[in-house]
Amino acid sequence: MSLVLALETSCDDTSAAVVRGGEVLSSLVSSQHELHAPYGGIVPEVASRRHAELLDGMVAAALAEAATGWDDLDAVAVTQGPGLIGSLLVGLAAAKAIAYRRRLPLVAVNHLQGHVAANYALGVEAPFVCLVASGGHTLLAVVEEGVRYRVAARTMDDAAGEAFDKGARLLGLGYPGGRELDALAARGDPRFARFPRAARRGREFSFSGLKTALLYDLRERDEAEIEAHRADIAASYQAAIVTQLVEKTVAAAAAEGLRRVALAGGVAANAGLRAAMAERCAAEGVELTLPPVALCTDNAAMVGLAAQHLPATPWPEYLELDAYAGDAEAGAGRRRRAAGPPRP
Ligand code: KG4
Ligand code: ZN
Repeated sequence: MSLVLALETSCDDTSAAVVRGGEVLSSLVSSQHELHAPYGGIVPEVASRRHAELLDGMVAAALAEAATGWDDLDAVAVTQGPGLIGSLLVGLAAAKAIAYRRRLPLVAVNHLQGHVAANYALGVEAPFVCLVASGGHTLLAVVEEGVRYRVAARTMDDAAGEAFDKGARLLGLGYPGGRELDALAARGDPRFARFPRAARRGREFSFSGLKTALLYDLRERDEAEIEAHRADIAASYQAAIVTQLVEKTVAAAAAEGLRRVALAGGVAANAGLRAAMAERCAAEGVELTLPPVALCTDNAAMVGLAAQHLPATPWPEYLELDAYAGDAEAGAGRRRRAAGPPRP
């Protein structure tokens, strides 16, 4: 069990946390949503600059809140990828600098393993099936030990978070729309409109047809009807996403012979999903771990939790580590720079 300072800057949330074992001593997240909202999406260059401005203060505040001094730390952990490369590089450079100066080891964490690890704050025990659903990913991870997992299914097209965000945009909600759609859906009737519960057969997820179905549904209604039933349409759309997530997760657990299920990623914050998954798991006699909402959306605590299960790179070898933007590069980023492609 080690005392870890963790940083997460893979997207548009600047976050720092202090974690010991499965215990989160402090966890601070500064969301940049308002900064990007006028653009209707994240502007990578703006995100990187904001991370650089905020990080020092966030680290100091996370240490203070955990009543931890620099000398107490055993390691520094940081998200290495996947994500926005500029944003990742700000976090990685900061983590390297902090660790190097104090001769500490550094733990490079994969963002998705981080999401899975949020469940260790609740003391879940592997093996379990974890639905990882975020803005960029949707997959079923069969967690074998610690944060090591095998992928049992993934999405063939959009991520579940993307389906929420695109649906929210069509419904005239703000960006990112998942949380707003969730709140709106809570007041609506999920049986109002029929949306395809897509890809019933097969293990893989699919959400792009659903988004198109919403587009056509809205085209067929006039403004007044949409205005009167916005919450009902949102609830119906959310129910279609949630049903697919719940059914595929429960089916995967059965196929794997596992009676333990967990949720992870921003979409796991969805109230409709949490309620439906809890109900379905209870009916199936499957144990469900639901991390607190703050540990589902991007945060550094999950990175510190993952670090407890991953090898540390010793001082000063990690100075050679690179961030990686995509899934395919995971692992490749561990290579030394000299072994990688020539750099400009
Ligand atoms: O894990 P996350 O914070 O960042 C990524 O790694 O992508 O996930 C962000 C995604 C966004 O698509 C956001 O709209 C969605 O999670 N999200 C939600 C809710 N809160 C966040 N989707 C549905 N309901 C929510 N309450
Ligand atoms: Zn995430």
